[in-house]
Amino acid sequence: MVLRLSLNLTNSSSIKLLQITDTHLFAPEDGSLLNVITLDSFQAVLGAIIEKKFQFDVIVATGDISQDHSEESYQHFVDSISVLKQPCFWLAGNHDYKPSMAGFFRPKKIFNLEHAFLSENWQIIILDSQVFGVSYGHLSKQQMLLLDSILREYHHHHTLILLHHHPILVGSDWLDRHALKDSIEFWQILRKYSNVKAILCGHVHQNIDRDIQNIRVLSAPSTCIQFKPNSKHFALDRLSPGWREIELYDDGSISTQVHRLMSTYFLPDLNTNGY
Ligand SMILES: [Fe+2]
Repeated sequence: MVLRLSLNLTNSSSIKLLQITDTHLFAPEDGSLLNVITLDSFQAVLGAIIEKKFQFDVIVATGDISQDHSEESYQHFVDSISVLKQPCFWLAGNHDYKPSMAGFFRPKKIFNLEHAFLSENWQIIILDSQVFGVSYGHLSKQQMLLLDSILREYHHHHTLILLHHHPILVGSDWLDRHALKDSIEFWQILRKYSNVKAILCGHVHQNIDRDIQNIRVLSAPSTCIQFKPNSKHFALDRLSPGWREIELYDDGSISTQVHRLMSTYFLPDLNTNGY
């Protein structure tokens, strides 16, 4: 049975989403990743979102919620994101531990879903690309069938696909070794349909916005450390943590933009060569 939800977001002409990704939280509140206290940077991002007064309908959290698998790290996410009243769809990244996540289902707040109708015109398909214990992504046969069957059955809905791993090469050798491994099969499914408008992923800790076969492939900055684009080897960027805002219109078009903290307070240790 597909884990499905219908939201009634039809009282406006568009649907607005907030993408949060790669929070990498720890059990200790002062847990840090390469010198960035990830709970602090996440909460700073949430504070900036509130300050900006961006009106939105749904939050999507595209994985790597936790860095240490602990239930406490997920509790920190749930407690922190609760400053925003909107529902949050989350999915697992390579760093997540699904048994810990499963305990944090919260009616009307945190959702582990596979399919959601946002309105009469828009749907979201949420895929699980995690291969436990490794950094690259993979979609199981069951996930491929789920994608294919939803796209076939609800082909009149404009579609946004969410998954953690990037389904395209982004141009960084080290990161592209950790991409979605079976992206050829993934794109073969998408090519059969004309209703997929965008793919939203995490994992790359940078802003990606590409047009592939008329499908927008988007990622957002992490709420903690940023990876340097087009780098052969692991390298960090000086850019600040951030988030993405996305607006989905009735005609299937999309507008989106990335925002970052103004402060340079959350600068990681730039001399490190891995994490
Ligand atoms: Fe990550």
